[in-house]
Amino acid sequence: MIPLFTEPILAIESSCDETSAAVVQGRSILSNVVASQIEMHRQWGGVVPEAAARAHVESVLPAIQQALNQSNLVLSSIRALAVTNRPGLVGALSVGLTAAKALSVSLRIPLLGIHHLEGHISSAAILFEKMSFPHVCLIVSGGHTELVYVRSPGAYRILGQTLDDAAGEAFDKGARLMGLGYPGGREIEEAAKQGNPNRYSLPKGLSGETSNFSFSGLKTAMLRLVECEGSNLNIADAAASLQRVISDVLTERAIRASLDGGVNCLSLVGGVAANSELRRKMGAAAERNGLRFYSPPLELCTDNAAMIGLAASFRLARGQRDDVALDVLPNAPLPE
Ligand code: KG4
Ligand code: ZN
Repeated sequence: MIPLFTEPILAIESSCDETSAAVVQGRSILSNVVASQIEMHRQWGGVVPEAAARAHVESVLPAIQQALNQSNLVLSSIRALAVTNRPGLVGALSVGLTAAKALSVSLRIPLLGIHHLEGHISSAAILFEKMSFPHVCLIVSGGHTELVYVRSPGAYRILGQTLDDAAGEAFDKGARLMGLGYPGGREIEEAAKQGNPNRYSLPKGLSGETSNFSFSGLKTAMLRLVECEGSNLNIADAAASLQRVISDVLTERAIRASLDGGVNCLSLVGGVAANSELRRKMGAAAERNGLRFYSPPLELCTDNAAMIGLAASFRLARGQRDDVALDVLPNAPLPE
């Protein structure tokens, strides 16, 4: 049995373009409020850091209040504060951290900073009872593509990562080239539903026995495809082909890393894990290879504060605490 902090934790996530607050207790999510900035950033075709920080300032207190209301708890019942303090946009992270520090000082309760990727790994914590340790976790988001050996909650080893663009970026940039909206992942998934995934041939990036990824060649190939085909480009087929190649390469590497690592369990987390074709493909490949496969519900795949609270639950149970000197870090490795 993995020890968990058993009292209510208020968690805050504001590392990029979602302001989120959640209340978790042990492995239970009592509330998980996400105030998305996607509509605002859509007009610029991507996240504008200054605008993101300003929107977090406006949304953070209402999100916290809503998270408390939905959990049927009052602020005085909260026993710890968890907040994403790394990595991410400095201005955006600072808003969440400042709110968490103020609450921790005024309520005289512990504060704990959480690494965003540890949050994504912990989004599968609601399934940890069924999962076994060690296992392999593939994190695929807008900023990261990491294959992680998870010895236990909080003990990680990076097995492989992207050498350039993240998988989510490959979706987002591909979508932009085809004139689809932002964020691109969901748009590509939607367009691909009517498309032929074998119509266009696209490169998988690195070849051979590697656990790393490279998606920049795919971006260039998409640019060339869009330029060469011009108005003849079949968007549905191009979206389906892009989704296929990304899903194939992620699936191949994740399965191989799990088999090489001698584990019998694989999890898929992060915003791109919301892609149903990727989930289906990886699930089927895992089954063929005798691996158990887990991926959290869609609302826990994209950025949210519940995953930060879940990560904190394990660390707080081990007695870990931060103080008001806690700072934000734009870049930081996953804690080993
Ligand atoms: O984890 P996340 O919400 O934020 C980061 O930490 O980056 O991931 C956002 C990424 C974006 O690149 C978005 O296009 C991608 O997740 N995404 C998807 C889908 N939904 C979101 N990619 C593929 N298919 C989806 N359904
Ligand atoms: Zn994320």
